[in-house]
Amino acid sequence: ASTLGAAAAQSGRYFGTAIAAGRLGDSAYTTIAGREFTMVTPENEMKIDATEPQQGQFNFSAGDQVYNWAVQHGMRVRGHTLAWHSQQPGWMQSLSGSALRQAMINHINGVMAHYKGKLAYWDVVNEAFADDGSGGRRDSNLQRTGNDWIEVAFRTARAADPSVKLCYNDYNIENWNAAKTQGVYNMVKDFKSRGVPIDCVGFQSHFNSGDPYNSNFRTTLQNFAALGVDVAITELDIQGASATTYANVTNDCLAVSRCVGMTVWGVRDSDSWRSGDTPLLFDGNGNKKAAYTSVLNALNAG
Ligand code: G3I
Repeated sequence: ASTLGAAAAQSGRYFGTAIAAGRLGDSAYTTIAGREFTMVTPENEMKIDATEPQQGQFNFSAGDQVYNWAVQHGMRVRGHTLAWHSQQPGWMQSLSGSALRQAMINHINGVMAHYKGKLAYWDVVNEAFADDGSGGRRDSNLQRTGNDWIEVAFRTARAADPSVKLCYNDYNIENWNAAKTQGVYNMVKDFKSRGVPIDCVGFQSHFNSGDPYNSNFRTTLQNFAALGVDVAITELDIQGASATTYANVTNDCLAVSRCVGMTVWGVRDSDSWRSGDTPLLFDGNGNKKAAYTSVLNALNAG
């Protein structure tokens, strides 16, 4: 196959990208994205600050823009994200305790009602674990509402839309030996054993010199999948875009039957959140990079 999406489809997987509503007027961007990908994650448009800028007043205009573009191009959509310590609107940042807990529940219900039956996945909870090597939770206003906030979010989400797959999503959980990975693994194991509704785990996979790709990523994907969840690579970018590393990541997903697909976090290097870096598959002029070819070849060989 000659596109990433078609090549991934040969093994029943998707190949996605983050899409920014603000770039949909750029025809070079939409031409590449429309041709290559089969899954879309709105880069910022379905986050809490975008969808509920004032408490109780929902705004889906930017989220719908991305959603509609994706559907018009035959793509599915991954919602991102319902409960997160970051990109909270000001009103939410100032809440705590039971008021914040109820606001989280109301937010999940409000956003999921709007997209009910329309999305393939939701990142219900994003980045809830700490980077301090403890393997524990990240301190945040949500965490301070009680350790059960994550399971409450998932139970609320399941009730709001039983048709969408519910995911936990995080970064720096790719290395099996990292405490953060173990912390998330133990949470998912606990959720599965107690019947907390969770369907998938997203591995963001923002690899850089400080948090490099490790070949035990495949082990991580296998071990999580063995808990009975789907796994996916959800925000892939690699500092410097090593073609070898991109191929390794692709092969890791292909090696795990429950790895349902992979998503890169932007189309061209110039679209990346990592300004000054060149971590993606297309250069700023929209040309395919060596990393693109290595991913495509890996998908076609797999
Ligand atoms: O839209 C405003 C614009 O009006 C304003 O003038 C400008 C000035 O700062 O900011 C614009 O908003 C920015 C937004 O991106 C849209 O470009 C925000 O400041 C900026 O913080 C925001 O960054 C996003 C970041 O998440 C925020 O946490 C990145 O685009 C987005 O790629 C990044 O994505 C995250 C995932 O959601 C979660 N995992 C990590 C990943 C990378 O950080």
